[in-house]
Amino acid sequence: MKEILVLNGPNLNLLGMREPGIYGKTTLADIQENLRQVAADLDLDVKLSFFQSNSEGALIDELHNAMGQVAGVIFNPGAYTHTSIALRDAIAAVGYPVVEVHLSNLHAREEFRRVSMVAEACAGTISGFGPRSYTLGLLALAGILGKG
Ligand code: DQA
Repeated sequence: MKEILVLNGPNLNLLGMREPGIYGKTTLADIQENLRQVAADLDLDVKLSFFQSNSEGALIDELHNAMGQVAGVIFNPGAYTHTSIALRDAIAAVGYPVVEVHLSNLHAREEFRRVSMVAEACAGTISGFGPRSYTLGLLALAGILGKG
């Protein structure tokens, strides 16, 4: 069974109470539970693990630690999306596929959110579908891994 890591960056621990008009009322725990359910319902034969941090370095460490452990990563880097060359370099270095996901539509918001530092290093980007962005990310990654 292949392992998929679902990685979340800064402020995503506050989902459900954080700017609900933009990010909705679904919590990160709800999203994680839903992903487990989808993986089971679709018989994807993957083991899901989860990690969230508000710290850029901890996210880079987690990407490094996942080398040799996971088949791929679903990653919402939060605001580091727009600023972090270090995360981009980590994604480029690790060798497994990373699918970038965002709850909100980055292209329908402020100008600075239209730029993703990490996108070029990722297998693809899903943005704008609320919690379903994670579900779609899981399906995309499962497809890349030959599991869907
Ligand atoms: C986000 C979009 C980012 O611009 C923002 O900084 C976030 C959340 C999203 O999921 O829509 O923290 O990544």
